[in-house]
Amino acid sequence: MAIFKKAEKKLTLNDIVLPEHIGIIMDGNGRWAKKRGLPRTAGHTVGAQTFRKIARYCSDIGIKHLTVYAFSTENWKRPKEEVDAIMKLFKEYMIEAINDFQDDSIVVKFIGDRTVFPDDMLELIEKNEHDSKDRTGMVLNIAMNYGGRDEIVNAVKTLAKDVKDGKVDVNDIDDKLLSDLMYTSGQPDPDLIIRPSGEYRTSNFLLWQSAYSEYCIMDVLWPDFKTEDLDKALIEFAKRNRRFGGI
Ligand code: FPP
Repeated sequence: MAIFKKAEKKLTLNDIVLPEHIGIIMDGNGRWAKKRGLPRTAGHTVGAQTFRKIARYCSDIGIKHLTVYAFSTENWKRPKEEVDAIMKLFKEYMIEAINDFQDDSIVVKFIGDRTVFPDDMLELIEKNEHDSKDRTGMVLNIAMNYGGRDEIVNAVKTLAKDVKDGKVDVNDIDDKLLSDLMYTSGQPDPDLIIRPSGEYRTSNFLLWQSAYSEYCIMDVLWPDFKTEDLDKALIEFAKRNRRFGGI
């Protein structure tokens, strides 16, 4: 007797529950450029376009929070030319977001230590946050000069000072109190973190918040990342069995 295997239904976004918060480590810009004999900065330029496309797509499909890792506290070690090129791309995006996205629903936030940025950058950061704060759509967190350890160290310093000043009792320190001191305060932890370019590392991204995040490592360089790749990650995520330490 012939045994017919029941064809497995191909899942689409309509069949699955989407993550509320996605984190993306936008990795592989340098390798993308190298493969083409181009300067690394060309990879970042194309990577910035990919960022625009993927952020818009996440908002369109109903993702509530998206955090992109754009520049880490360690990325200052790169050659000045590369750092300058990335800063120029941030500036271009922030100016565009203020001027061209006025009717947008996306709430723009910047996470990381912003005190190091020059005044013109700070003004753009603050204007973007101010102009978008009353919107009701997806929250887009752009991690710039962000480091997970740096974020935790700062939270601990604030807490130590509050204990010293008698504002907080040591016995009241818990997960929630620390979460509220992170840059992402008030937002849910990321459900899914996507890392393109095939590297199996967290690279200091959302260390506190990613305790129970599902990772999806993808073999595609960020400038080549397509909306179809995001769909693949979302479908992969939907198949995971999240237990949060339970059974
Ligand atoms: C990591 O790839 C990428 C970065 C450190 C920079 C990311 C910046 C952008 C995508 C552009 C600007 C973003 C905004 C928000 C406008 P890599 O350079 O480490 O790649 P590699 O591992 O292949 O060398």
